[in-house]
This record gives sequence, C-alpha cells and structure tokens, in this order.
Amino acid sequence: MFNHYSYEFYREPEFASEYELDRFGGRFGRFLKNYEVALFKSLLAEDGPVQSVLDVGTGTGKLAYAVATRDTVAFGMDASPEMVRQALQLRPEGHEGRVAFFVGDAHVLPFGDRSVDAVVSSRVLMHLVDWQKGLAEMCRVARRSVVFDVPPLRGFPALESLARRVLARFGAKTQAYRVFRVGQIRRSLQQNGYRLARVERSFVLPIAVHRKLGSPRLTVFVERLLGSLGLRRILGAPVTIHAVRED
Ligand SMILES: C[S@@+](CC[C@H](N)C(=O)[O-])C[C@H]1O[C@@H](n2cnc3c(N)ncnc32)[C@H](O)[C@@H]1O
Repeated sequence: MFNHYSYEFYREPEFASEYELDRFGGRFGRFLKNYEVALFKSLLAEDGPVQSVLDVGTGTGKLAYAVATRDTVAFGMDASPEMVRQALQLRPEGHEGRVAFFVGDAHVLPFGDRSVDAVVSSRVLMHLVDWQKGLAEMCRVARRSVVFDVPPLRGFPALESLARRVLARFGAKTQAYRVFRVGQIRRSLQQNGYRLARVERSFVLPIAVHRKLGSPRLTVFVERLLGSLGLRRILGAPVTIHAVRED
C-alpha cells in the first residue's frame, strides 16, 4: 500500500541519493537535522531509557542513527529500497550504535505487538495512503511510546499542501501530502490505547523561507520573536507529538 504521490519519488535512485544533501545539507540543513533529532530525543527521553526503537519511514536514517547506542538497538524501516541503501551508506563516522535497516511498509509493520519500547517517525504519516492504519500499527508495536510529527491544518503547510494536491490532480510531479488537526490525532491515539502526552510546535515561517535565509542564527532570532508574539502556539509547524500507552 505504498503512497502513489510520495513513494514514487523515494524509490528513484537519483532522488534518494540527493535527499540527504537536499534536505540536510548546508548550514540551515544541518541546523534543521540537529533541531529535529534533539526534539525527538528529548520527547523520547521523557519516559526514561529505551532498549529498542523502531524508526518508521527512516529515509536516510536520521532518527535511527540518532537513537542507536551500544545499549539501544534501532530498527530503521523504509518502503524504498533506495532510501535504505542511502541510510546504510550514510552511517556517521565512528558510530558504534546497534542499528539495522530494512525495507517494509508502514501499513503492515513486521513486528509483534509491543515488541519495541518506542516508535519514532518523522515526516511520514503525512505521506501515507492510510494514515490511521499507519498510526495504529505504530501504536500496536510500541510497548511504551510513539513520537511522530505531522504538518498542521493551521499554518503555512496547509497552503502548500493544498497547492501541491491541486498540482498533483492536474498531473504535475509533486510530493502531495495531507495536513492534520491535533484533535483527529488525539482521537486516533485514544482508539489505539494511547494518550497524547505532549505537543510541540516548531517553526512559524515555512522551512523553505528559512532555507532561503540560510542563517540558523537568523532563523532562531525570527522564530523567537514570532514565538514571543504567541504565533508559534497557533501556527508552529510541524507539530511533533509524544503519545504514551495508557493500558
Ligand atoms: C519525507 S521522507 C522522511 C524520511 C526521514 N524520516 C526523515 O525525517 O528525514 C518520507 C519517507 O517515508 C518513506 N515512506 C513513504 N511511504 C512509506 C510506507 N508506506 N512505508 C514506509 N515508508 C514509507 C519514504 O520512502 C521516505 O523515505
């Protein structure tokens, strides 16, 4: 059940090989990667140490490598064999953590119920054909917590999402994605025995604008300013969610 919009991009060798540089290259790219990794790790740490983590839609292994240590095993799974190949090649120098990458579909995770301590997933739910099925699977296999992000309905991603969907409808080759209301995520988590423990909103301005600015210091300054005006609480994106098992 691979996404007909996004998956076709990620299975292309050229697209996959450019992903890391395209997204996390340059000063702002490195800043973004560090920011996202730090955010996910801090939310994950709220429930104490973990021994096993599954990164669904791992891409180039951003989160899998970040959480894998000698004591914590990380599984990085992606639907695209090309992305898995990239993840394997991009092992950070000197990284000694226990990490395994493999190909698989987020809609049918090849793991038993409560078989890993936690599941993480960044920039993936928005691309799935059936996001509720994907989220249900993450909740099923996690023993303790699930940390993931989504583009919110409130904020700039909604406009971009709409534009891309329209373009895709007219046959343009673009990565269409969906946006979410926090309320619908909360309800879906409840149906799967989880409670929404924390919501973190990141950037008020679109990432594309920050990328153009090209200065992490300017990004921090501008976002702090907008945050102090209360705009991050309303418009911040993506929305990163920490969900914990209730039963
Ligand atoms: C925007 S990238 C995010 C990659 C990585 N998590 C990150 O944050 O850099 C989306 C990833 O989800 C993967 N993906 C899309 N549909 C999937 C599915 N049904 N099952 C597993 N992975 C999927 C794509 O191949 C791609 O690597």
